[in-house]
Amino acid sequence: MQIITDPGQMQAIAEKLRLNRQLIGVVMTMGALHEGHLSLVKLARKSAGIVILTIFVNPRQFGPKEDLHRYPRPLEQDIALAKSADVDYLFAPEAGSIYPEHYQTTLECGTLAERFEGEQRPGHFNGVATVVTKLFNITKPHTAIFGEKDAQQLAVIRQLVTDLNMDITIVAAPIVREENGLAVSSRNIYLSSQERSAAGIIYQGICHADKRIAAQEHNLQAIAAEITEMISSLPGFHPAYVSFVDETTFEPAETAEKGKEYRLLLAVHAGGVRLIDNGKFRT
Ligand code: PAJ
Repeated sequence: MQIITDPGQMQAIAEKLRLNRQLIGVVMTMGALHEGHLSLVKLARKSAGIVILTIFVNPRQFGPKEDLHRYPRPLEQDIALAKSADVDYLFAPEAGSIYPEHYQTTLECGTLAERFEGEQRPGHFNGVATVVTKLFNITKPHTAIFGEKDAQQLAVIRQLVTDLNMDITIVAAPIVREENGLAVSSRNIYLSSQERSAAGIIYQGICHADKRIAAQEHNLQAIAAEITEMISSLPGFHPAYVSFVDETTFEPAETAEKGKEYRLLLAVHAGGVRLIDNGKFRT
């Protein structure tokens, strides 16, 4: 595995690989690698001969009161994990080489990015879209893998690729969960062991929705209210939103129509940690 920090060098390598007719798959992360990230690498390997993993804690997607400075950065451990996952190139640039002095350009996402995570984290998706575009230009992938764990991010990136005519195939990777159903996340380490085991309630909420929809309950708002109550009943757990959306438009959905796909989006404050999760349903 080759470790690259310079964007120009990474871009030159990617160009050479393309000229040699290699298929490039990219997995973008902010590091603190875990099973979720490694599942994306495995998926990349299925469609690409060369796998590039990027690690960059992108300052532009963090709000002023968010955890940019305490975000975990275990680079040595990440390098070992990337090596054992059979990554070909690890691209881990410094912030100053991605956003040098006099940097100016930011992409602006539309309404898709304004609700849910976007409403609670203003500017977040503009920061994500900007860095993802820069990393696409630097790594020149044919395929890019993103996790369904961040379902709204995935939708924003699909929209970005379509809107800007990017010639890149986006592949969605299923959510990897801990034993109690909690979605694996770099931020889970901030939870106390009690909070971490109690956080399985979020997945129980998703399973509850599954059962209610299978039993022909069409009132999605009522199901969301039941889940909100389930989660709020745990001390220290406060849902920020629990809401169904139409899977294709991401518009909030109150009633289920037959033969359509919906996604339940959840954000929950547990102790001082914000956890997000989601589940997909077909009626
Ligand atoms: P990060 O939170 O590090 O996640 C990197 C990728 O791993 C994302 O595509 C995310 O959806 C996926 N992922 C995280 N946890 C997962 C899990 N439990 N199961 C499956 N996939 C999971 O998302 C970002 O970084 C950043 O916003 C980024 C796209 C890198 C831009 O800065």
